[in-house]
Amino acid sequence: MSTRPSTRQWDPNQYHKFSDHRLRPALELLDRVPIAAPSVIYDLGCGTGNITRIISDRWPKADLTGIDNSLEMLEEAGAGEGSIEWDHADIHTWTPDASPDLIYSNATLQWVEAHEDLFPRLASLLSPEGALAVQMPLSWGMPSHVLMRDTLANEGPLGSEELRGKVGRKWVEDADVYYDLLVGRTSHLDIWETEYVQVLEGEDPVLEWVKGTGLRPILEGLADREREAFLEDYGQRLRVAYPRRPDGRTLYPFRRLFIVATV
Ligand SMILES: C[S@@+](CC[C@H](N)C(=O)[O-])C[C@H]1O[C@@H](n2cnc3c(N)ncnc32)[C@H](O)[C@@H]1O
Repeated sequence: MSTRPSTRQWDPNQYHKFSDHRLRPALELLDRVPIAAPSVIYDLGCGTGNITRIISDRWPKADLTGIDNSLEMLEEAGAGEGSIEWDHADIHTWTPDASPDLIYSNATLQWVEAHEDLFPRLASLLSPEGALAVQMPLSWGMPSHVLMRDTLANEGPLGSEELRGKVGRKWVEDADVYYDLLVGRTSHLDIWETEYVQVLEGEDPVLEWVKGTGLRPILEGLADREREAFLEDYGQRLRVAYPRRPDGRTLYPFRRLFIVATV
């Protein structure tokens, strides 16, 4: 395992709080992979390896590697038994040791910049008839993420211009952009979107959800007092946007984009 420093501190515990909700899209993506028995598989942004282990169960003979740039996540992933290899690398610059039959990436590529270069590059790495399978959240226009940007802008504004720019950027494009990027490089392209109406439990469950993913750059980018002011205001706005149902639960509709590109 290489030892490049992590660029973002992931918190495996926060991420695991909602692992059931996060598992379903990962499985639905896996289900659409059109290859019977891939020999070489990479799971990009494997995190703690939950999905990587499911991939391993599905194709136990495959040479499978989980890639992540967070040592915290990889440490937890590597603690389990099995033949999966775990590699510390940044997807921006990652190149595979062997030609992949499958590059799988669930809930990760939204963190990687320059999709106009990334997607063609990943497709170009595949072996003949190999597939690229990707799932990313379409969260940019959702109230939870609009309110994140509004709170940063209106509370001061808070944080540096760089942070606001980062949070304000639309990291995942619309489906047609990926179609145009990949169609000339693939023999079959399967793109779809699903909105999951997630039923969450507990106090401020939407806030807890985004703390595990989209809110992390903000929490890390703000000074202590700014973070406190942000969380108070943002939490209040979320409670209005996502009111509790009479049974005490909260509905959090969440849209996701799926791409399976076969070369
Ligand atoms: C939301 S988690 C998804 C984990 C796993 N794929 C799953 O579905 O449970 C995103 C993961 O991508 C990793 N990640 C983010 N940017 C990355 C990059 N540039 N290179 C490698 N890993 C990255 C994070 O460390 C984190 O483990």
